[in-house]
Amino acid sequence: MDWGLKNRLSRVIKPDTGRCVMLAVDHGYFLGPTTGLEDAGKTIAPLLPYADALMPTRGVLRACVDPAQAQGTPIVVRASGGNSIIGELSDEDITMSMEDALRLNVSGVALSIYVGGEYQHRTLVNLARLVDEGQRYGMPVLAVTAVGKDLGKDARYLSLACRIAAELGAHFVKTYYCKDFERVTGTCPVPVVMAGGKKIPELDALKLTSKAIKGGAVGVDMGRNIFQADDPVAMIQAVRAVVHQNMSPKKAHDLYRGIKASNKRKRGRK
Ligand code: 5RP
Repeated sequence: MDWGLKNRLSRVIKPDTGRCVMLAVDHGYFLGPTTGLEDAGKTIAPLLPYADALMPTRGVLRACVDPAQAQGTPIVVRASGGNSIIGELSDEDITMSMEDALRLNVSGVALSIYVGGEYQHRTLVNLARLVDEGQRYGMPVLAVTAVGKDLGKDARYLSLACRIAAELGAHFVKTYYCKDFERVTGTCPVPVVMAGGKKIPELDALKLTSKAIKGGAVGVDMGRNIFQADDPVAMIQAVRAVVHQNMSPKKAHDLYRGIKASNKRKRGRK
């Protein structure tokens, strides 16, 4: 990895802990105005100070995120798409140029692969092409192992998808937590971050985060379990405590509830 690529990746995966809390807000590229992201700018702004990195689409980044406020937050921009929730999910292609990624001053680009999906070949070759571009310009590529409708999220499948991504040259990989998760991270030669998945109770999301870290993930790239929480700012701080301080899920949930109560009191005084 050349200096520039390492420098960009270290903006995301923090050198002091070797961990990261990425905030995924790219859902709209195939889900439209999903719950919690109806007004993306309003959702993202208060969370920026607590995110090690933000994962938006270029459209939301340009339209909804203040470049000055985000000057300290590394961006990993969604570079694949072309599908929607009402079509074949695996029907994705590269949807932005490396030139535009550089223009946006991002620290990484993200592309979904659909191993076993109808368009698996195209998504995998697209990953290889994006890695070629990333190597050329020193830009880390995050492979997102999307799971098509009919594909299971077990260790056998996810370790296949993550390993293929790494073999094709992805610099880090995002995948879901599963039973025997250490089989997934242990056979993937590049860093793995966990996607949060569908919204679940905050304590359960913190337990999942802790299990993923103990199972070898370097962090999370979490969306709905942060911005759909009752108090997203409290939740991202609790997730940070688990990821960067190895706090137990129970203590992190107590932290969540304390910050949430404090925020409620502050709002009451306004
Ligand atoms: C597509 C994505 C999702 O937008 C991202 O994974 C969502 O994060 P979460 O599952 O935590 O809401 O990148 O696969």
